[in-house]
Amino acid sequence: MIDDIRRIAAAASDRIAAAGTIEELSTLDRELLGKTSELTGFKRQMGGLDPDDRRTVGAALNEAREGLQAAVAARRQELEAIAAKQRAAAERLDLTEVRAGRDAGHLHLITQSFEELEDIFVGLGFTVAEGPEVDDDWHNFTALNFGKHHPARDMQDTFFVDLGEPREVVMRTHTSPVQVRVMESQVPPIYSVMPGRVYRNEATDATHLAVFHQLECLVVDEGITFGHLASTIDRFTKAYFGPGYNTRLRPAYFPFTEPSAEFDVQRPDGSWLELGGCGMVHPNVLSNCGIDPEVHTGFAFGFGVDRLAATRYGVTDLRELTSPDVRFLEQF
Ligand code: PHE
Repeated sequence: MIDDIRRIAAAASDRIAAAGTIEELSTLDRELLGKTSELTGFKRQMGGLDPDDRRTVGAALNEAREGLQAAVAARRQELEAIAAKQRAAAERLDLTEVRAGRDAGHLHLITQSFEELEDIFVGLGFTVAEGPEVDDDWHNFTALNFGKHHPARDMQDTFFVDLGEPREVVMRTHTSPVQVRVMESQVPPIYSVMPGRVYRNEATDATHLAVFHQLECLVVDEGITFGHLASTIDRFTKAYFGPGYNTRLRPAYFPFTEPSAEFDVQRPDGSWLELGGCGMVHPNVLSNCGIDPEVHTGFAFGFGVDRLAATRYGVTDLRELTSPDVRFLEQF
C-alpha cells in the first residue's frame, strides 16, 4: 500500500509540475487531492488495517498529501509570475512607436479644458493674460488688500520659497496676482481671463489637489455692476456645460472683492457644485494698481478648472488628473 501511495504521489507531482495554466492547476488540485482522489480513497481503506500498519500508512499518506499541496502552491506561484509578466508585456507601451505624422496621443484633459474655456471667453470679447507661478508677496497678497497680518492669509495654505526675505516669495496660491499685473500694466477698459496653475499647502484627496488649476476673469471699466458679474458667470457656465446648467451666488468674503460671493453650478440632476469665488473689485485693489476707483469699477471671478472638467466628464477623484496611466488619459 505504501508503495502504491508513493507511486501515485510521484505521478501526481509530475502532472502538477507540468500544469500550464492556473485553471489547469486548480482542476488537478481537485482531482489529485479532493474527496474523490485516489489518495483520499486510501484513507477509507485504512479502517481495515491493524493499528501498526494504520500508523505507517497514515504517515505515508500525510507525507504524500503535504508534498503535493506544497507542489501545487509552488506551481501556482510560478504560473502567477508568468501571468503577471505576460500582462505587463501586453500593456507595455513602445514609446519608439511615436513617429512624425502618426496620431501620437493628445492633449491632457486639463489642457483641453483651458483651451475650450479660453475660446469661450475670447468669443465674449476677453483677452488671455498669463503670469509667473512663483510670485512675490505684493502680487499674491498685499496688492490684493491682504494686510500683513490679515487672517485670510491663513486660509490660503501657502508654500513659501526660500528666497529673499522670509515669506517674501511664494508659489502663487491663486491666479489673482495676474489681475494685479494686468491692472498695473494696462489702462482700462480691461476684459481679461487668467488661466494657470496654482499651489496650496494642503493634503490631497478626491476633491482637493495641492497643485491645481484656476481660471480667473477680470473686468475693469466705467459703470461695471454686480449684474454684469452674475450674467457673465451664467453665460460662461452655460457655454461650457450646456443650457441645462444654472448658477447661483452665495454671500462670501474675499479681501480683494466687496461685495463678494461664492458661485455654484447646478447640474441637470439638481445637485450643486461649488465652483469658485467672485465679487466687485475692492477700491483698495484698484488704487494699489494705479486705477482710480472713483472713475472705474470692476468685477472678478475665479474657479477651479480641475473640478469643472471633472464634473463635466464624470471624473470622481481629482487625483486621477495627475495620473500618467494611459487607460485613464485615453478616455478624453
Ligand atoms: N482668488 C480666489 C481664490 O482662489 C477666487 C476669487 C477670484 C474670488 C476672484 C473672488 C474674485 O480663492
